[in-house]
Amino acid sequence: MIMSKLIIEEGESLKGEIEASGAKNVALKTIVAGLLTDEKIVIENIPLISDLLTMKMTVEKFGGRVEIAGHKMTVTGSNLKNFPLSLEMAAQSRTSSMIIAPLLLRFGKATIPNPGGCRIGARPIDRHIEGLSKMGAKITYDASGYFHAQSKKLHGTVYTFPKNTHTGTETLILAAVLANGETVLENAAAEPEVDDLIGLLNQMGAKIKRVGPRTIKITGVKKLGGTTYKIMPDRNEVVTFAVAGIITGGDLIIKNAQSQHLLSFLEKLDKAGAGWEKVNENSLRFFYKGSLKPCDIVTSFHPGFMTDWQAPWTILMTQAAGKSTVHEAVFESRFGYVSELRKMGVKILFFQPKISCPEKFYNFNMEDKNDRHYQAILIEGPIKLHNAILNISDLRAGATLVLAALAAEGESVLYGAEHIDRGYERFEERLKKLGAKIKRANS
Ligand code: EPU
Repeated sequence: MIMSKLIIEEGESLKGEIEASGAKNVALKTIVAGLLTDEKIVIENIPLISDLLTMKMTVEKFGGRVEIAGHKMTVTGSNLKNFPLSLEMAAQSRTSSMIIAPLLLRFGKATIPNPGGCRIGARPIDRHIEGLSKMGAKITYDASGYFHAQSKKLHGTVYTFPKNTHTGTETLILAAVLANGETVLENAAAEPEVDDLIGLLNQMGAKIKRVGPRTIKITGVKKLGGTTYKIMPDRNEVVTFAVAGIITGGDLIIKNAQSQHLLSFLEKLDKAGAGWEKVNENSLRFFYKGSLKPCDIVTSFHPGFMTDWQAPWTILMTQAAGKSTVHEAVFESRFGYVSELRKMGVKILFFQPKISCPEKFYNFNMEDKNDRHYQAILIEGPIKLHNAILNISDLRAGATLVLAALAAEGESVLYGAEHIDRGYERFEERLKKLGAKIKRANS
């Protein structure tokens, strides 16, 4: 991977039109879906991001074929072979752990490492593992951190997720489509990306139905076939660009933005006094319409305020007049960007809100919580952001720091730009078209 930095000059107001790419968190999973059939599947509207290339390389090690031509991807699973998924591959892409489903279905066994940081327990895919076990897989966990799964034939079951899991729901759907009999997943994730994957699988011949807001029924079929499927736009990209437009005092039209998937974000924009409107069924306009009001958010699973949106939201709230809070309830540690933001003059304090039943309230497992981490921040605005030399540690944090630099006075330098490439296609090139003064250099 080439290490690079972004140099961002004092901001212009961003103006113009931009198109959201295809959803990263669907595109990655379609590759795994393609391994369930010997026929070709063609996926349209894929984002050209490095996470997709990582997933392609991983699957190719298993004999899968992934060809990318423009924004179209063809996946062929006919030569699939069974190997243990290496620790290195699993560490590069958490989604690669989902390969457990096609391997179990096609070979009756699979070995995958625990993709989480924890090497001593079954976390953090315990919910996926528990569900697969209910479908008849015998799964053991060894001291070196690998899950060994075996099953002659997976069978249908009724499984209730103890807490929401987006990828866990998708893994169990992938396993259930070719299992014997009917599977009912209760308390299943309701994210639109899950439904988009269901759309693809149904087109391949699966029988999957969302029978309640959080209940999914899957009737196992004998075989899946090829198809062509266009994936949904990336909601996280829409939010990132929307905040970029508002925070720079600009006015943007985002094409491929669907308001029905962004309701909790749009509702908060209204509360904060930021401007947005529907241009048509497929486009939204975001604009600055005067000083922003402070606003509190708590992240949650769908249809709540997404955890991926809290970092850009924090930047927006640095410009609101008063105190705002952001309470992260999905991940136990997702405020890594705060220390970098402080270098730009932002006033943020960590605190722990009082919660009567944390075990129920938080989406993560309580034993994963490191007590040193607070789950909330208090932002005092409005702040005149100034330039800084910043380090990007992960994808969403990286995009957020770019937003902050666009709104700051002076020239900022952001090291670790390659993290942004994991999830945003040609990020700086597209921002530049909207008027941002941003360039990349190798670091
Ligand atoms: N968790 C467990 N055990 C499990 C499963 C989850 O403890 O068996 C915990 C996780 O550690 C986390 C919480 O439950 O604290 C939620 O995890 P979930 O499984 O819902 O998240 P995910 O599937 O790993 C996906 C997206 C994330 C997005 C979340 C929440 C993909 C590849 N990733 O993660 O996207 O933030 O859902 O919607 O789909 C991103 O795009 O940058 C990103 C991180």
